[in-house]
Amino acid sequence: MEMDISKLTPFTIFFALVVFNCCPSSTEAYDPLDPDGNITIKWDIMQWTPDGYIAVVTIYNFQQYRHIQAPGWTLGWTWAKKEVIWSMVGAQTTEQGDCSRFKGNIPHCCKKDPTVVDLLPGTPYNMQIANCCKGGVINSWVQDPATAASSFQLSVGAAGTTNKTVRVPKNFTLKAPGPGYTCGVAKVVKPSKFVSPDGRRTTQALMTWNVTCTYSQFLAQKTPTCCVSLSSFYNDTIVNCPACTCGCQNNITQPGSCVEGDSPYLASAINGPGKTSFAPLVQCTSHMCPIRVHWHVKLNYKEYWRVKITITNFNYLMNYTQWNLVIQHPNFDNLTQIFSFNYKSLTPYGNINDTAMLWGIKFYNDLLMVAGPSGNVQSELLFQKESSTFTFEKGWAFPRRIYFNGDNCVMPPPDAYPWLPNASPPTISSLLLPVIVFWATLLCILNV
Ligand SMILES: *[C@@H]1O[C@H](CO)[C@@H](O)[C@H](O)[C@H]1NC(C)=O
Ligand SMILES: *[C@@H]1O[C@H](CO)[C@@H](O)[C@H](O)[C@H]1NC(C)=O
Ligand SMILES: *[C@@H]1O[C@H](CO)[C@@H](O)[C@H](O)[C@H]1NC(C)=O
Ligand SMILES: *[C@@H]1O[C@H](CO)[C@@H](O)[C@H](O)[C@H]1NC(C)=O
Ligand SMILES: *[C@@H]1O[C@H](CO)[C@@H](O)[C@H](O)[C@H]1NC(C)=O
Ligand SMILES: *[C@@H]1O[C@H](CO)[C@@H](O)[C@H](O)[C@H]1NC(C)=O
Ligand SMILES: *[C@@H]1O[C@H](CO)[C@@H](O)[C@H](O)[C@H]1NC(C)=O
Ligand SMILES: *[C@@H]1O[C@H](CO)[C@@H](O)[C@H](O)[C@H]1NC(C)=O
Ligand SMILES: *[C@@H]1O[C@H](CO)[C@@H](O)[C@H](O)[C@H]1NC(C)=O
Repeated sequence: MEMDISKLTPFTIFFALVVFNCCPSSTEAYDPLDPDGNITIKWDIMQWTPDGYIAVVTIYNFQQYRHIQAPGWTLGWTWAKKEVIWSMVGAQTTEQGDCSRFKGNIPHCCKKDPTVVDLLPGTPYNMQIANCCKGGVINSWVQDPATAASSFQLSVGAAGTTNKTVRVPKNFTLKAPGPGYTCGVAKVVKPSKFVSPDGRRTTQALMTWNVTCTYSQFLAQKTPTCCVSLSSFYNDTIVNCPACTCGCQNNITQPGSCVEGDSPYLASAINGPGKTSFAPLVQCTSHMCPIRVHWHVKLNYKEYWRVKITITNFNYLMNYTQWNLVIQHPNFDNLTQIFSFNYKSLTPYGNINDTAMLWGIKFYNDLLMVAGPSGNVQSELLFQKESSTFTFEKGWAFPRRIYFNGDNCVMPPPDAYPWLPNASPPTISSLLLPVIVFWATLLCILNV
């Protein structure tokens, strides 16, 4: 079919450009706040053995704000030939598989598609290597680059013994701990170089390959997991999370989909059959989200204004360790002070400095406890006003978007935001643009 380009209106062309630019491909996840975010798995062959090689495998979390929390990562792959794993240090396979073809020495794992997990903290020293044994927990790059990697060593048999005969494994899978990541094919790259601690000698791997895995929230879960509520000193209305954001309370079709905080069945529900799955057991609320972020515009000074942020956990089955928030608000370029959270500015668009990453202070509030009296953390932010942009009108004082642990938090609809006294409801034209932009971005993130 032929198409006459000249008949396309400029608008159609513009629209097509927007659509194509925004969604680079339908299979790859794209996060506008962390465009290069990925997890890279690097295999360094350190030594050839009579029937294979010894490799050190390192999982690097190059994502700014998405971490892997307990119960940690699970890495899988498919061997290209009939390789076996003779032994492992710093990790283990979950199943040995059928090693009946071996007499004498029995390999650690004979499966065609091994599944590897990290060892737990407290593993004996002779079974450890550097960066191992953290129960599969990997920090995000911004929170702590020093703990944003995890390593193990494996000795592979029945494999090639030169860089011409060795075959790279296929079909890498990464669970962290649930679904969400898609891994590409392993690519042979320039051998890694290692500099000795005193910096006087450099050694190198015999061969290296890399695998890159990217995250998609849409693959991870079909429903949202977090929502935002709003309030302000200038209006008594508390704008709650939209009803049914993460699910609906339905006693008839799904009894037990949530528990009341004062229910006598709470203890048995917590220890019930759902305990080991990753599905949350939430306290009954109208939104049914495991996480709610509340943004309260607290005070208005002459040159500053103050916001209080509260994160509440409604999930009875999950302590969120090393949680983080990413918040977009135009005033973050003039953040003056933050109380009791760590802060770093994320600047994905060069000189637009409107996105902040916040996370807990170690041993103080970096653990967001399960639902209940201690299931919340809070902080206050002090912003300096910039006379040309600052206003309490049209919801300007509220955040544009919020992520909790890298997942998008659903905002209330803009026409429900608390109004200034005597203000008329916001007009459609001022609201429509942000809504369109928001949905375009969301659709893009979800790759719909
Ligand atoms: C993975 O992230 C690193 C660090 O941000 C970046 O250098 C690299 O290009 C990324 N790889 C891919 C395939 O995007
Ligand atoms: C294999 O090693 C030789 C030298 O030892 C090198 O020239 C060649 O580039 C290597 N091939 C690969 C695929 O790494
Ligand atoms: C890799 O996965 C794809 C899709 O899941 C499958 O079709 C293919 O057979 C797998 N390859 C190997 C070597 O297992
Ligand atoms: C392979 O991964 C390592 C570690 O993440 C990185 O330093 C190196 O640049 C990567 N190589 C390529 C070609 O992406
Ligand atoms: C479900 O039960 C709770 C208390 O048991 C009640 O408050 C709520 O209205 C019920 N919801 C529906 C949709 O029936
Ligand atoms: C949450 O942490 C507390 C204190 O560390 C611990 O007692 C509790 O068992 C944990 N709960 C879950 C579900 O992990
Ligand atoms: C962004 O704003 C913060 C807070 O005012 C400031 O500390 C930081 O230097 C700014 N970053 C850039 C790149 O302008
Ligand atoms: C706010 O930040 C912007 C960009 O960093 C800067 O140009 C401006 O002077 C700041 N305003 C105030 C009132 O500090
Ligand atoms: C507060 O905001 C709500 C909209 O969320 C509005 O209906 C109400 O009239 C406002 N109250 C005052 C006193 O302006």
